[in-house]
Parts: sequence; C-alpha cells; structure tokens
Amino acid sequence: GPMIHSLSASELEILPFALLAIDNTGTIVTIVKNPEPGKTNETLTDLNISPDLVTIQHLARGQFLIPGFVDTHNHAPQWAQRGLGQGMHILDWLDTITFPNEARFQDPDYAQRIYASCVDGFLRQGITTASYYGSIHGEATKILADLCLKKGQRALVGKCNMTRNAPDYYRDGSVAESLRSTEDCIAYIKSIDPAGKLVRHVLTPRFAISCDPEVLQGLGQIARSNPDMPIQTHFNEAEQEMKATRELFPQFNNEADLYEHYGLLGQQSVLAHCCFMTDYQMSRLKELDCGVAHCPISNMTVGGGFMAAPIRDFMRRGIRVGLGTDSGGGFSSSILDAMRQAMIASHARELTSKGQDKGLSIDEVFYLATLGGADVCGLRGKVGNFAVGKEFDAIVVGTQGVQQGIMTMVEDGDTLRTVFEKFVMTGDDRNIIEVPFIEL
Ligand code: GUN
Ligand code: FE
Repeated sequence: GPMIHSLSASELEILPFALLAIDNTGTIVTIVKNPEPGKTNETLTDLNISPDLVTIQHLARGQFLIPGFVDTHNHAPQWAQRGLGQGMHILDWLDTITFPNEARFQDPDYAQRIYASCVDGFLRQGITTASYYGSIHGEATKILADLCLKKGQRALVGKCNMTRNAPDYYRDGSVAESLRSTEDCIAYIKSIDPAGKLVRHVLTPRFAISCDPEVLQGLGQIARSNPDMPIQTHFNEAEQEMKATRELFPQFNNEADLYEHYGLLGQQSVLAHCCFMTDYQMSRLKELDCGVAHCPISNMTVGGGFMAAPIRDFMRRGIRVGLGTDSGGGFSSSILDAMRQAMIASHARELTSKGQDKGLSIDEVFYLATLGGADVCGLRGKVGNFAVGKEFDAIVVGTQGVQQGIMTMVEDGDTLRTVFEKFVMTGDDRNIIEVPFIEL
C-alpha cells in the first residue's frame, strides 16, 4: 500500500504504492518502491520470496503506512494530572501540582494502574518509542519498564533523581540512596531486556535545582562507565528555573557549562526545552553532540518560559532535534498536537527573529516526530523511517470511512500528499488504525 516517511529533515518520501518485506525477527529485508499493482505474488517471486511462505497484508482504501512516532520527552507519573495548572510558572507548578501527584507513585498498585493507562494511551497515539521520566521511586520505575516491555513499546525509562528543593514527602532520602536506587533500576532493566532491544534505562537527574552536586557527580560517573547509556534532563527551560539554577551554582555562567562539568553532556544526552539559548551554549551543544527534545506545547502552557524555542537555529547548526509531548506540563499526549504546535511556535519565532529563523514546514515537523526523534534517542539506525536493516516500526493511518467516526479526508482531486497534510493538521488518534505489536 501507500507509504510515507522522511529520508531527511527536508526530504519526505511519498510512495503511492510500495511493498515492504519483513522477516520473522521484525527486520525490514526488502523495500520495493513501485511494484506493479495487482502483481504482489509475481513481485515476491522475483525477489526469491515464496508467496506461500509469507503473510501478505494490503492496506485498505484511504490507509497509508508511516513510521511510529517518537516522543523524546514525557513524564509518565504526570499522566493523571494532565491539564492541571496550565499557565503556571515552572517552580510553582512543580510545588503545587506535580510533586504531590508524583508522590503517589510510592504505592505500587497506583503505579501499576496509572502506568498501564499511560503506556496504552501513548501507543494509542501511535507513539511506538517514548523517553520517560519516572518518579523518584525505584519500584514504580521498574513497573513502568515491565509495562513497556509487556505492551511492546520501545522506551527509555529513568528513575528520577531528586535530593533537594523538593518536599520531604517527595525526595530521595540521601545522595547515596538516590544513586543506589538508580543503580538498582539500571540492573533491573538490564535483567528484563538484556540486549536493550525495547527498554533501556536513561539517567534522569530531574534538573540541577533538584539535585545536590554530589548526585550530578555520581550520575556523571555512572555515565562515564556506561558510555552508551542515555541521559536526560531539563535545560534552559524558563526564566524562573534559570535564575534559581544560577543562584544554586554561582560558579557556572550557564547550564551548558554546569551539566558538562558533571559529565552529563554528550552524544547520549537528551536535553528538554532549550528555550533560552545563547550563541555560546548553542555551540557547546553542537560540539558535544547533544540532542534536543523540543516540547512546543509545554513551552507555551506550563513553566516553559512561554517561549518559542530556536528550532530552526538548532537545525541550521546540525544539532539533532526531536519532539516531546512533555505531558503533563503539556496538556496533550498527542504527537500530532506537538507537530502542529511546533509549526505555530516556529512561525512566532520567525516573526520575533525578523525572518531569520524560518517557520517549520509540515514535512519538517513530521521529520521531528519520527526520524529526528529516533536520532535524538540514539535509535536512528534502528527506527524512524523505512530502510532495509531497520526494525519494522510503523503505524497504519486511516483517512477514509466513518468507522470510529472519522470524517473522510479523501475527496475528488485529493492526492496522497494532500491527504497526508490533512492528517497531520487535523487528524487524531481515531486515524491511528493499527500499531503493530513489537515483541522481543
Ligand atoms: N523541570 C523540572 N521538572 C519538570 C517537569 O516535570 N516538567 C517540566 N516542564 N519542567 C520541569
Ligand atoms: Fe519535562
């Protein structure tokens, strides 16, 4: 059937008819870009694939295949609080809304119930890969990792480190305990998925404000001994956050120097927000090859500094960027919403930069939600688009028919291109027809 994916940030490939062959390990073995319609068996025979030994799936009218979406930044324990506290500044929102909610994950039954709903909910949105912040609780974080594995979601899962500037009821007991709990989660996640095929641990210092220097140092040491392990944190998100960070760490001029000092910046780093960037810090992120999780919704609704981040500038400099829903700071767990808001925010940025930072196109925001996100999560060689040797990680999009109450997007004169644009700009989870299950 039809297939749409990104070859690069500026190249969207739209194939009205393609054949994708997947072997029994879930790897793409062949892509035929324009097979003769109605001759699938002959095409397979030409490829030395016996039609009798394979299962053939044709997409229905109005359907097309796209890569699974990648959410590079979200908070699983905020699933049940989405929508609360919108418009608040970051530190006030953390204190009044978020910490009391996240503290509830001390209870494993609660964690099981909310995390199951969270992973199902993200899969329902076509998010086949997610980078999750957990709560501070080791047990709840293990439950989240178990659920991702069981439900077939590729995920980075991190126990969140917090030893200060948080209430007594929601704080790691000590620096040593914080690091011990992280090590314990790392070992557990390795034990359930030794090759890291679906689920991996991500080091997750919440942000410098909530971490004693010794915690940052300890995590930096873990990072040094595990050079492949991803790292995530919040970075230059909002004025309130940046001011508090400067007061706590007066020895550093800026957050790039701070996190680098503790060994937390490198190719494995996923830095959320990056709203307020100086030329110096931009250059450091490029030199250190850090990835950026752009969260265009929360940047405008909670804590994010109410700021359109300089995404065009990142892309111009060759800094890797993906999209994050950042739910619950953002109100929506839909990556389609994040794509649309990324376009809107980028157009505001075009205006405030006096035309220097051009707004993002549909093709570009689609790239950010798929291949760009995969790149940020260290998975560019594995998922994000369709290529021989990559894993088959895809969703079936439906745009026609009234099943599930979808208004048809296909009318006389439409092309696959125009239908794709309608899907990106007006679609929702009712258009996500199928998310093939990924199994180890
Ligand atoms: N900075 C530290 N914690 C958070 C969080 O949970 N959400 C957002 N948006 N920023 C943060
Ligand atoms: Fe966040």
